[in-house]
Amino acid sequence: MVLFLLLSSLTIAVQGGNFSELYRPQYHFSPRKNWLNDPNGLFRDVDGRFHMFYQYNPFGDLWGHMSWGHAVSSSDMLHWVEDKEVALMEEVGEMIFSGSAVIDFNNTSGFKNTSLDVPPYVLIYTGHVYGVLGTIEQNQNLAYSNDGGKTWLKYTEGNPVLEIPKEQNFRDPKVFWYAPTQKWVMAVSLSEEQKVLFYQSDNLKNWTKTGEFEIAKKDAGTVWECPDLVNLIDSQSKVEKWVLMVNVNPGGFQESSGVKYFIGNFNGQTFIQEDTSRMTDFLDYGADFYAVTSFFQPNGGANPLPLIESIAWMSNWIYTQKTDYPPPPTSPWRGQMSFPRDYALKIYKGKVFATALPNTAFALNPLLSPDKTFLLTNLPTLSLANQLLSSLIQSRPTAYSSLQRLTVVFEKAPGYSASFGVDVKIGANVRTLVRMHRNCSISVDRSKSGDTLGGNPYFMELKTAETEYDCLNEREIKIEVILDASSVEAFFFDWYSMTNLVFTESTNNGLELWTDAEFGQFSIQYARLEFLEKTML
Ligand code: FRU
Repeated sequence: MVLFLLLSSLTIAVQGGNFSELYRPQYHFSPRKNWLNDPNGLFRDVDGRFHMFYQYNPFGDLWGHMSWGHAVSSSDMLHWVEDKEVALMEEVGEMIFSGSAVIDFNNTSGFKNTSLDVPPYVLIYTGHVYGVLGTIEQNQNLAYSNDGGKTWLKYTEGNPVLEIPKEQNFRDPKVFWYAPTQKWVMAVSLSEEQKVLFYQSDNLKNWTKTGEFEIAKKDAGTVWECPDLVNLIDSQSKVEKWVLMVNVNPGGFQESSGVKYFIGNFNGQTFIQEDTSRMTDFLDYGADFYAVTSFFQPNGGANPLPLIESIAWMSNWIYTQKTDYPPPPTSPWRGQMSFPRDYALKIYKGKVFATALPNTAFALNPLLSPDKTFLLTNLPTLSLANQLLSSLIQSRPTAYSSLQRLTVVFEKAPGYSASFGVDVKIGANVRTLVRMHRNCSISVDRSKSGDTLGGNPYFMELKTAETEYDCLNEREIKIEVILDASSVEAFFFDWYSMTNLVFTESTNNGLELWTDAEFGQFSIQYARLEFLEKTML
């Protein structure tokens, strides 16, 4: 009977949204129905299919009953044709919190079904366990598929595989294969203590602690969540670094949720930060970029990579649930993922930074087509550029006209100072302002962008971020925006990003270039407008 009730509610969860609702993302992943937060267990299987799990409440549109949803795409990170709903269901007394996935090529875990020619896929997740008398413990657990990702089994006979008895804040394991020592490595957070702990294992089942990372000056009241550790190389300079991402909440650049990163080295045991005075590097400076995590890299631990694919949850804990203000006005779902992003290094004037720019290979490419790409050059004035943009948008079928990517490069003489930007999602009395200011700082202003969650100041009052781009002496100011039904992802100088939710009707689809530079003091090298396709069902 209990089973029947459970199954029937799951069936209801499968029905629901038709992906044409107000504010429904058209190429960013959102669940058909119900609540979503962090991406979990990202990996590309041996047949080339992309798997994305996600924190999911199968029973409602607020956080709770945390389970892992599961989406699969055969070709890229956008056409999530199979949303298989729940892969790992919460159990009585245990919610399934965030974690990662690996392909166990050498069957170190022994989970392989020897009659099939496919390695085991293993999920490593946090169990959020309620004990008697209301106690809580968070511990690390395994689940696996030995049939190529069709079915997933919790390793019930051996779980948890790692615990610190009675520890309530031990979560979000990120596991990768580290070739030099031929070991699995786990980065996992001791969140209230703002520490990342490192463990190693031969078989994913027995773990030994090897080190921990913390910073000297901690932020009061902040938790560290969802650590990610990657080895990146800059293809041009050959500079190679390990980058540790930690998702901090509060303590993001905007209010509450955000992603900090640290640059340094990993010696197989622990992460060592290079310059301990660098405490405020953020991977994204917007309000809605959290719990970022990367795809499992089969050779990641052996060689540094120029690009590593990742996805973040596009929201912020400070307003995503109902507080004194209404939550994001979406129904019957709440929550969506960022555009797939690539971690990369950016070297500027000898200093090393980490970036999360749009993924081209498996995300932008499938969305672009030559007949929907418009390159505007030889633009003598801003107003002519804006007229051309406007007529291009008007000539598009309305279903697609608001799904846009705009890239613009402004040019000016070194030593000349001005502000540049683009206004997006423009309609009557509605617009979102993307700006680089004279002092090279950047901002996105969504205070007049439509529904502001009941005027929630945390939603409306976004901070301006200083940058290290020398906009006075550089000639080019490049700005790029990727726009979906309820998001604006803005990229500056192929470097800084600001990711924000914006809730406005899709008819507010205007775009305008903007500057306060004097006529004759700047030019537009080019503006490229691309109309993107709907990929969600
Ligand atoms: C991050 C997080 C994780 C946790 C999960 C629970 O957003 O708080 O630390 O595992 O969400 O849903």
